[in-house]
Order: sequence, then structure tokens, then C-alpha cells
Amino acid sequence: MFKTFKKLVGRSEPKPVSTIAGVKTILHIDSSILGPYSASRILSADIVSKLKAAHPRAPVIRRDLVADPAQHLSAAHIAAFQGGDISDAALGKDLAKGGAFIDDLFAADLIVIGAPMYNFSIASQLKGWIDRVCVAGRTFRYTPNGPEGLLPAGKKVFVVSTRGGVYTSGPATTLEHHESYLLVVLGFIGLTDITIVRAEGLNIGETAKATAMARAKAQIEALAT
Ligand SMILES: Cc1cc2nc3c(=O)[nH]c(=O)nc-3n(C[C@H](O)[C@H](O)[C@H](O)COP(=O)(O)O)c2cc1C
Repeated sequence: MFKTFKKLVGRSEPKPVSTIAGVKTILHIDSSILGPYSASRILSADIVSKLKAAHPRAPVIRRDLVADPAQHLSAAHIAAFQGGDISDAALGKDLAKGGAFIDDLFAADLIVIGAPMYNFSIASQLKGWIDRVCVAGRTFRYTPNGPEGLLPAGKKVFVVSTRGGVYTSGPATTLEHHESYLLVVLGFIGLTDITIVRAEGLNIGETAKATAMARAKAQIEALAT
């Protein structure tokens, strides 16, 4: 089972975004709580503007998970999933939002996810989104050979990974539950073509931050060539 599951986890080197054919829809997700000071919001917007330039007719679905978050999953959600009553209007609205999150994923060909590291993993707002898009029978299913993602092949994901420290080398590598988690959970639902655009070491000092941001911006620039 482990072997099968391992195959679901994918990452790929970036290729020019203009060479991606048949793009109909772009999905832009942000989850940073830092508003105008957010590094991931700057970089995700930068990627989306490059995608938009390459595919001007593709509409952008915008999901700001801080401005408009999903509720935490609750017993009431599970009861509703199992066919129970939805007497609460707020719950009904939130269930519709979760359904729309899944529709976004089926509609989008290019998906950009701003994913800051908070407490060694992703923002709880992004985890809330994940809890709503991982739905058995819709985005994944279990088979005798292991789990199978149900999102159609061919979708391209850009994960913007921003973090205060450095996790790609040095003593903190074992504390990394951020990119590794995202690769696993996105692969689980069928999103296996993932490019990580990373700016790390952002809180070490001004020089380290400027270097990390410049490197990430150069990576994004290369997507457009
Ligand atoms: C609540 C919170 C928790 C954080 N936890 C970590 C952490 O565990 N490791 C780390 O390297 N940086 C941590 N940081 C620093 C952020 O990763 C860094 O500020 C990064 O720029 C966040 O991306 P953003 O600017 O898009 O929000 C944390 C920041 C905040 C606000």
C-alpha cells in the first residue's frame, strides 16, 4: 500500500506556463493571515499574473481563506454528509461553500496555493479548506490497491511555500511538516503535478529575506519564459 501511495505524491520542475495547453480556468488560493505584509500573498499574486498573461481568456477563481474561511468540520457537518437535517442556515451556507471549493478544483486547470508555514505546518485556514475538499467518493476513494485520487489528471499546481526559518537543509529539516504534508494531501486527491515556489529563511534578517524573495521571484520569472 505504501508503494502505491508513494506514486500519488508528485512534484515537478517548472516549465514555461505558456506551453501549458487548453487552460480554461485558474484557481488562486491564499491563506496567510499577514495581509499586506504576507510574502506568500505577494508571490502567489505574481504567479497568477504570469498565468493570466499567458492565458488571458482564463477566468481566475479567487479564494481568500482568511477573508472568507470555511468553518471547522463539526458533528453537524458529518451528520449532514450522512443525510441528516440541515436546520441551521449558517451550516447550510458553509456546506455549500465546501461544495464550491470542490467544484473549483474540478473546474481549474492551473491552481496556485499560497501556503505560509505556521507552527511547522500549514495555516489552519488552509487546513480548513483541505478538510472540506478531501471528500470520499468525490475527490478520493479507497481501493484494494490503496487510495485513489479522483480529480482528473492534467491539473498543474503551484504551491507558494513561505517560512521564517530554513528547512531544506540544516538542523530544522526534521521539523518540516509543511511542503511535505501538502504534497501528500494534494496527491491523495489526484493533484500530483506540483511545483513548489519557495521563499524560506524570511525571518532570519533583512538580507536573508531579500535574497529568498529575489530567488522566488526569479523562479516565477522563469515560468513566464
Ligand atoms: C503564527 C505564526 C507561526 C509561525 N510559525 C513558524 C514556524 O513554525 N516556522 C517558521 O519557520 N516560521 C514560522 N512563522 C514565520 C512565517 O513562516 C513567515 O512569517 C512567513 O513569511 C509566513 O508567510 P506569509 O508572510 O505569507 O504569512 C510563523 C509566523 C506566524 C505568524
